[in-house]
Amino acid sequence: MSKKIKIEAEFEELGWDELTIEEQQLMMRARKVSEKAYAPYSDFHVGAAVRLESGEILQSSNQENVSFPVGVCAERLVLGYAGANFPDLAVKQIAIVARRKGEEIWAGVSPCGLCRQTINEMEMRFNRPINILIQNPDGSVLRFPGIQTLLPFKFDDLNA
Ligand code: THU
Repeated sequence: MSKKIKIEAEFEELGWDELTIEEQQLMMRARKVSEKAYAPYSDFHVGAAVRLESGEILQSSNQENVSFPVGVCAERLVLGYAGANFPDLAVKQIAIVARRKGEEIWAGVSPCGLCRQTINEMEMRFNRPINILIQNPDGSVLRFPGIQTLLPFKFDDLNA
């Protein structure tokens, strides 16, 4: 007998003043590093910043390649750097922003599938959810409590 299964996702939309100071700082770091994007093929400049459990902030922009699939998203670069250099520290939060070259307003952005799977791996590695903050073009910020809301029914168990 067939069964319908519903998956629900809950997240928040917040004004800048509704973010914590820590979150505002993280967003600012993501905004700043987006200026360093190497994105000559898409002109889409992305910045991602993570806060480690120690409080330290790391950040990266996206880095493209003339062989397009070789390019790497900002989120995967910063998470890879965190894992490689701070293997004992969990990531608490990630902030993601994007802007098209030459434009003032922020672009709408949402992490790609590969980056979602990478965020999931970091959550599993430290058994701790990562708060995900995403800049909206209208100035508001989306706050997701963890990757489950962005990647329901994910692959996370080789032996299930
Ligand atoms: N990109 C990111 O860095 N993060 C995202 O969340 C979305 C997409 C990059 C990949 C590529 O360099 C450019 O944005 C256009 O897709």
